[in-house]
Amino acid sequence: MQKSIRVKLAGLAVAVLPFAAAGIVPGAAQADDSIMETELFTVSRGGQIYDNWMSALEADKPKKTHPSYPAAGKQKGAATWRCKECHGWDYKGADGAYAKGSHFTGIKGLKGLAGADPDKVVAIVRDKTHGYTPAMISDTAARKLALFVTKGQIDMDRYIDRATKKAKGDIRRGAGFYQTICSICHGVDGRTINFKEAPKVEYIGTVARDNPWETLHKIRNGQPGIPMVAMSALSVQDQVDILAYTQTLPVE
Ligand code: HEC
Ligand code: HEC
Repeated sequence: MQKSIRVKLAGLAVAVLPFAAAGIVPGAAQADDSIMETELFTVSRGGQIYDNWMSALEADKPKKTHPSYPAAGKQKGAATWRCKECHGWDYKGADGAYAKGSHFTGIKGLKGLAGADPDKVVAIVRDKTHGYTPAMISDTAARKLALFVTKGQIDMDRYIDRATKKAKGDIRRGAGFYQTICSICHGVDGRTINFKEAPKVEYIGTVARDNPWETLHKIRNGQPGIPMVAMSALSVQDQVDILAYTQTLPVE
């Protein structure tokens, strides 16, 4: 899957170069001292680490299932080490979209840490329950992750109807953002990038309908390990408008 995308997006390497020169590359520990690293940027990097620290940090994948992953859970192996696997795309854990289905764990969400001291989150990431070593998630990366947990969470239930999965956004406004930003890579109809290996297809329209929480998280923070934009500089409502439009794009 990854391979075909890299080929398709070969031209993008050029676009990434200026960032690389400034030390701002996916997986890089820190920007050059002469570059002001904004909180917006750090929080969105933290959001990518939350999504998939292995891809975001180009780290080795653990082989065993996470010791705190419940025995009754349906996932196994490296996937169970992603923060989102236990705490959800909506950060609500068992109180959110993962209250049922193949990703159910019964584990709580992270709302209690919104607005908290980031050091608390760093300590939790290193505690016995979590067991993330600095070799997996470095201190610098843990700090970004902690900034995301304390400053980057939003209440997705305000923007996505849990029952219908519909985004509460303005489709026309969203189309304007989508067509001028996202379509450069995903195509005007969202079918330029196939997330699955052909002949299977999964487009942005599919993901946005099936998992609007994941899509909103990625719209806000970007896609780990891939040069994709993060829209966190826009208002949450703008981001939700984009989500609403992507829910209208073709699924095949
Ligand atoms: C395999 C499951 C699992 C994974 C993966 C996981 N956690 Fe947790 N997490 C837990 C459990 C279980 C608790 C509750 C511990 C308790 O109540 O004592 C918890 C609690 C927390 C809390 C405290 C929530 C509160 O309100 O007290 C934070 C913050 C947290 N996790 C952050 C993270 C971050 C960041 C990651 C990714 C690096 C992560 N977790 C990955 C299982 C997991
Ligand atoms: C610079 C190119 C680029 C731009 C601009 C871009 N994307 Fe992406 N996007 C990608 C690539 C590459 C992937 C990764 C595909 C993969 O991993 O299979 C991706 C993945 C995604 C995914 C994840 C799908 C999944 O299941 O993992 C979503 C959702 C997404 N993009 C939405 C958007 C939205 C919405 C916008 C506009 C705000 C946008 N993207 C802009 C390149 C881009």
